Amino acid sequence: MAPHRVQRYKEGMVREILVWPHPLLKQKAQPVAVVDDTTRALIKDLFESMYAADGVGLAAPQIGVLQNVIVLDTTPRQPEAKPLAMVNPEILSYEGKVDYKEGCLSVPGEAEDVERAAIVTVRYLDEQGVERTLRCDGLLAIAVQHETDHLKGTMFVDHISSLKRELIRKRMKKIQAVQEAEKKEAAAAAKKARTSGRQEAR
Ligand code: NI
Repeated sequence: MAPHRVQRYKEGMVREILVWPHPLLKQKAQPVAVVDDTTRALIKDLFESMYAADGVGLAAPQIGVLQNVIVLDTTPRQPEAKPLAMVNPEILSYEGKVDYKEGCLSVPGEAEDVERAAIVTVRYLDEQGVERTLRCDGLLAIAVQHETDHLKGTMFVDHISSLKRELIRKRMKKIQAVQEAEKKEAAAAAKKARTSGRQEAR
């Protein structure tokens, strides 16, 4: 089942992270109307999936859910930071400029310099639906800009030269082909196991 068709979320499930250029990664996500248990379950899945993949940020569209929800945990680089979940995040102001070598869990193995604001102020709802405003710097500022980009269907590769982007696209196509082959193999093995199980039951 495609991840975006799942209506109910188990607690803290590690979800498949879509690989660019998956079409869902190019779509605009929708605002969350009410922060409820479904939103909180989505947040848990995002954290679990992000930690499982060793990332510092993840946006809901990356697991196929087109909702304005992101999670961040930059503690590996910023010990003073805390894990953050942001619902309907909106960047209110940008200060300064910085070049940062960015990667993305949806573009595995790639990293390129992207120009970003050094400091951003972001307004969002926390997992209880309380409105908060946070001024972020360092890696957190970069991650907030990167993850809110995902909600607009924008990837970090959209900020680099088209030549570099096309080379990355070719490498991602190879990764996707391997993933598809593995899925087919797993499905065939599962079918075989079910068939032999039926035969034994006779
Ligand atoms: Ni990303």
